[in-house]
Amino acid sequence: MNPNAGQYYSTYLGLEQILNSQQPLSFKEGNTPAHDEMLFIVIHQAYELWFKQILFELDFVRKVFSKEVVDDNSEDLNLCRHRLNRVVKILELLNQQITILDTMTPLDFLEFRNLLTPASGFQSLQFRLVEATLGLKMENRHHKDYYKRTNEGGFDPQDYNSIHSLESEPTILQLINRWLERMPFFDSRYWNSYQPAFQNETTTHPFWSDYRALYKASLTERELPKLDDFDAAFMRENAAQVDTLSDAARRSALFIMMYRDFPVFQLSFQILDKLIEVDHWLAGWRHKHLVMVRRMIGMRVGTGNTSGAGYLDGAVQQHYVFRDLSSLSTFLIERKKMPVLPKELIRSLGFAGV
Ligand code: HEM
Repeated sequence: MNPNAGQYYSTYLGLEQILNSQQPLSFKEGNTPAHDEMLFIVIHQAYELWFKQILFELDFVRKVFSKEVVDDNSEDLNLCRHRLNRVVKILELLNQQITILDTMTPLDFLEFRNLLTPASGFQSLQFRLVEATLGLKMENRHHKDYYKRTNEGGFDPQDYNSIHSLESEPTILQLINRWLERMPFFDSRYWNSYQPAFQNETTTHPFWSDYRALYKASLTERELPKLDDFDAAFMRENAAQVDTLSDAARRSALFIMMYRDFPVFQLSFQILDKLIEVDHWLAGWRHKHLVMVRRMIGMRVGTGNTSGAGYLDGAVQQHYVFRDLSSLSTFLIERKKMPVLPKELIRSLGFAGV
């Protein structure tokens, strides 16, 4: 190749390594070639490439939210929104991609399945790093004992340590919690002109006292116990747990959701909304993967030595990270009933960094 000719397509993309990395075991001497093993390898590799890109984007988001001050007026927050949206689009694609595996029948899979043992997607380091970066802790996983296995099907010690050490870094969930807690929405200086609609019998902020009364009025008789859930979610002063938001953070998040139509809240709203979508598409993928697995191996144990479909079903139910955000919809009230915000609040927030 002429060294002055600039880049060459395959060299730039490292295609030699990538395209020589499909080595079906069934094609090795002594085995019977199984045609579909090539698809099985390629689809996993394609997933891993996209996981790499997702991690790259999430890492950026984590760095921005790790800063002492997250400036609303810098390009940072806008880039976070943009890159989280990219993560969402990739996850959408990964949801579709699994359908390609439907072209492989259970009998096709059986032709090479035993050769894989005890490897499985369970051991995907990058998938676990995506989960850990978002905020899923090993302790909170379904069948956490599986993650600590040192026997067949578990992680090798190096991968285990990588996941563990990432867990000791602040997660996106924790950083978002801190960001929301710092929102200055309820500082008394912004609420001098606010006219409470209801008498405030508690020490609560006048906005929340009004909002609680409006929410209560919006509930049907059957829904009235939701008021206790409201109090438990917003009216205490508890700190965040590792896998939840604090009440102060939830108040800010609900406020942003309610007043999202004001330009000053748009960007923050979209960031929260993208995080909900990330959870949504990840759960969608887990479900599609589970349905595919049921068809492929029925109720057999997985090559990775878990209970198989039973384990995956539990993970679908339990492995949400931003449940606190998605469940905020329970506490919304109609737009036309929302308290009118004081002008000084809207004016000031337009220029605030939090
Ligand atoms: C024939 C196709 C497939 C079958 C039968 C299958 C089966 C399974 C089973 C049974 C598990 C549970 C762990 C175990 O005991 O093995 C699992 C986990 C997993 N698989 Fe697959 N899988 C298939 C394809 C894929 C593909 C294409 C990916 C893409 C990366 C993937 C990624 C994963 C991941 C990330 C987990 C862990 C899920 C979690 O913990 O929530 N699998 N798979």
